[in-house]
Amino acid sequence: MLQATIESILQEERLFQPPADFSQTARINSLEAYQRLYQQAIADPETFWANLAAQELHWFQKWEKVLDWQPPFAQWFVGGQLNMSYNCLDRHLTDGRRDKLALIWEGEPGDGRTFTYAQLHQEVCQMANVLKQLGVQKGDRVGIYLPMIPEAAIAMLACARIGAPHTVVFGGFSAEALKSRLQDAQAKLVITADGGWRKDAIVPLKDQVDRALADQAVPSVQHVLVVQRTGQEVSMTPDRDRWWHELQATASSDCPAEPMDSEDLLFILYTSGTTGKPKGVVHTTGGYNLFSHITAQWIFDIKDSDILWCTADVGWITGHSYVVYGPLSNGATTLMYEGAPRASNPGCFWDVIEKYRVTIFYTAPTAIRSFIKTGEAVPAARDLSSLRLLGSVGEPINPSAWMWYYQVIGGERCPIVDTWWQTETGGILISPLPGAIPTKPGSATLPFPGIVADVVDMEGNPVGANQGGYLVIKQPWPGMLRTLYNSPDRYRTTYWEPIPPKNGNYLYFTGDSARKDSDGYYWIMGRVDDVIKIAGHRLGSAEIESALVAHEAVAEAAVVGRPEESKGEEIVAFVILEDGYVPSDALVQELKQHVVATIGAIARPSEIRFGDALPKTRSGKIMRRVLRALASGETVAGDISTLEDHNVLEQLRA
Ligand code: WT7
Repeated sequence: MLQATIESILQEERLFQPPADFSQTARINSLEAYQRLYQQAIADPETFWANLAAQELHWFQKWEKVLDWQPPFAQWFVGGQLNMSYNCLDRHLTDGRRDKLALIWEGEPGDGRTFTYAQLHQEVCQMANVLKQLGVQKGDRVGIYLPMIPEAAIAMLACARIGAPHTVVFGGFSAEALKSRLQDAQAKLVITADGGWRKDAIVPLKDQVDRALADQAVPSVQHVLVVQRTGQEVSMTPDRDRWWHELQATASSDCPAEPMDSEDLLFILYTSGTTGKPKGVVHTTGGYNLFSHITAQWIFDIKDSDILWCTADVGWITGHSYVVYGPLSNGATTLMYEGAPRASNPGCFWDVIEKYRVTIFYTAPTAIRSFIKTGEAVPAARDLSSLRLLGSVGEPINPSAWMWYYQVIGGERCPIVDTWWQTETGGILISPLPGAIPTKPGSATLPFPGIVADVVDMEGNPVGANQGGYLVIKQPWPGMLRTLYNSPDRYRTTYWEPIPPKNGNYLYFTGDSARKDSDGYYWIMGRVDDVIKIAGHRLGSAEIESALVAHEAVAEAAVVGRPEESKGEEIVAFVILEDGYVPSDALVQELKQHVVATIGAIARPSEIRFGDALPKTRSGKIMRRVLRALASGETVAGDISTLEDHNVLEQLRA
């Protein structure tokens, strides 16, 4: 994070009370109400979660045991049976929401579609039947590689309906990245589209799938189901590839939801860690359903009249929990937008809010900072009076961006929920409840009821107020990841052993540093590992490094994040070339393009620096701390006595 941001956060003393009229109708309507819930959950967590699970969800069969905690492995609502698609759709057909809008979709070239709960239910049932017809059975994994079109939500719900865990791969990822995820998940089928709109161009999604599957690279895949979106020509491999619209035409819309065990896999979502190989985060049915549902309901204060727009792509966890599952489980109206702001259309977000009278808007600090740059006149020209609540997610929001969001977009009328969480946590863990918790610009405020957080040192001892430390979670919660797919050992070592467990007490290691102020408010400072957050997207240094060293010209590479005003961080790569290659602008371009082709456009390095060697300790470890300082032009502070060759610093400074 920017040094300036850290300083302004340390000096931040403004406090904003929840607006009285907001609190009056809020689900959790006072600080006392929040504290009461929090205390109940601490005193008897199992009863707290069990009561919510019983009140808020439909179960085909009730559980026998609320929590089975064999650290670090948790099972929630053991023996219970439910179906996420049933909770998101079927139950709303009989609770008065049958003809209520479930999904509003605004397409990039200006087209759009809407679905009532009855219509969405019908499409989901049809797709579920098509999946079955193509051989997908309960337990089979299905890859989803789609643009932000309704079929993305339909595909997820169809998989959930028949008990086939999905793994959604962000449409901005390359064929290479798609391949490794499909291989790890051993997907049986892939759902994609001919193409998708991204800014003013078409992304050739089907071509990428063909490339990922070429040469039998993913032998588990038997079929590719293709949604027609852009209408461009694509090649269809006979027997393997089928058009969704052709199969839908004859598909039955009768498909009862499969009763799933509470701990059956709902989805796998790959995310970046500290090694080159992405981690398959596993979420299961019961706990995730409850946690995405209740966090959406309380944090976004969902009412029947709300139109909720979360701008995240469904390829990320935010899209899973707060575009699709959380809102629909609550019977809300969710909005999905295929477009993205760009120079030619800087006001497109505000147009969408005005057009559909959006009431709850949830986006990332990067987007907010880009709106600040385009100026107040752009949003001022639109009617944003429908908004009543604003949210932020993905990276720390600097107080000045918070204030701009609050004043210019929210008209000083809308509370802001700065929500801290991760792919692994399934849902939001630290956030204001907007009718209850006073906010401070730049702070995610207090933990959600049932979440026991703390800031500790490397031995697990709590640090004092306002001292920086590691953010940890001390008790299991229903939305937590259950394991890493195919890698239970990596699950244990990544999350539960960085801080050694004492007397059987395990601390969940978030990878973030934070500070708690004297009111107990959390201020998230940023990652302490080699994860880089670019525009809120999560990438691992090691992934980018493996992409670089796979290029024939590269002998060694090290990648770090450098603070950047708009995106939060940007990528700087230090590269040592193989003998026979010389640094050139052309080579810089080629290497950047190579990273884009290997991972995706979000991983494009902003800068590549060449040198004869990387700064390493005597034991051969790359000193990233030193590289981070070099990248941002700071003097290299701290102990560098173990550095092998001091000359390398001079070379890499440029
Ligand atoms: C990392 C998780 C699940 C949210 C989308 C990103 C950072 C997330 C905040 C916030 C400060 C935040 C953390 C976290 N982060 N929200 N409100 N304030 N930092 O999910 O890709 O799994 O990334 O995003 O560093 O560990 P993700």
